[in-house]
Amino acid sequence: MKLIIDGIEIEVEPGTTLLEASRRIDPKTAPPAMCYYTGLKDSGGKCRTCLVKIAQSSPNNPRPAVRLVPACRTLAEDGMIVQNNTSQEVLDARKDVVELLLINHPLDCPICDQAGECDLQDLAFKHGVSTTNYEEERRRYPVQDIGPLIKLHMNRCILCFRCVYVADQLTDGRCHGVLNRGDASEISTYIEKAVDNDFSGNMIDVCPVGALTDKTYRFKNRVWFSRPVLAHRECDKCCGQTVVWLKGNEVIRVTARKNEVAEVISFICNTCRFEKKSLADWEVEGPAHVSRESVISQNHYERNTIIPSLGSSDV
Ligand code: SF4
Ligand code: SF4
Ligand code: FES
Repeated sequence: MKLIIDGIEIEVEPGTTLLEASRRIDPKTAPPAMCYYTGLKDSGGKCRTCLVKIAQSSPNNPRPAVRLVPACRTLAEDGMIVQNNTSQEVLDARKDVVELLLINHPLDCPICDQAGECDLQDLAFKHGVSTTNYEEERRRYPVQDIGPLIKLHMNRCILCFRCVYVADQLTDGRCHGVLNRGDASEISTYIEKAVDNDFSGNMIDVCPVGALTDKTYRFKNRVWFSRPVLAHRECDKCCGQTVVWLKGNEVIRVTARKNEVAEVISFICNTCRFEKKSLADWEVEGPAHVSRESVISQNHYERNTIIPSLGSSDV
């Protein structure tokens, strides 16, 4: 099938969504996606940040319509003409969606562990407005422990459901989810249950905001002061291929590796993430690539540097 997105023609196979098609043209100009996640089945359709405009339906479509649609949940059709960044209507709609997402969001960035790698920060920076029409009382929740390794800041949650899909699809017994409906919806564990499972830490990596934080890392450092290196180890539970975040030579955090649209390439186990906090646990491969647009790249960590305890190894 052939379709046109922002004036660029692309050929895709049936079953491809407009988001995937846009990412194939260029991941950097593709619609923002706060809830869709390639590796998580059924994700998407919750946040509306990926809105695009069908400017012309496929000639084969029996119900053609010009309208805004979520790109992550809309299948490409032959002959379709789609506007992404070239439609003022789409850009205005994104502004409204950002305003909606920020209705209850706290001004926590200066103390939030996600700052510097937060999809919501990036979205607000690129598409948001600095004012709000909201005058009602804001929702407030206490910070909650949801297990031995993860802390939940529900005030920051945008209810994208990604963590719920991780628990459903990667762990062997989900014990948390979205409770209640509408404005009262919240992420919570079932009473007296805790999120404690070999792959539960991946919920932290997929959370697009700072709602789920790693208890072994929180408040240790601003992310732009730490140095990310690619590292691996023999692991009998996962691929063992990670990004190890260093402060000097101290391992302060371990995360999964992500691709150019900031999605995890291969999910990692809790042993690698939470227990291997010594440089001796890891074979360091070299600097992790950081996008030039990220604040983390300001420190030029990709230049070769020496870790003294490793002798002359270049990392
Ligand atoms: S989740 Fe993102 S936008 Fe919200 S306080 Fe944290 S860094 Fe700021
Ligand atoms: S805690 Fe994070 S991953 Fe889970 S629903 Fe909220 S924003 Fe999404
Ligand atoms: S990414 Fe499409 S609705 Fe959230």
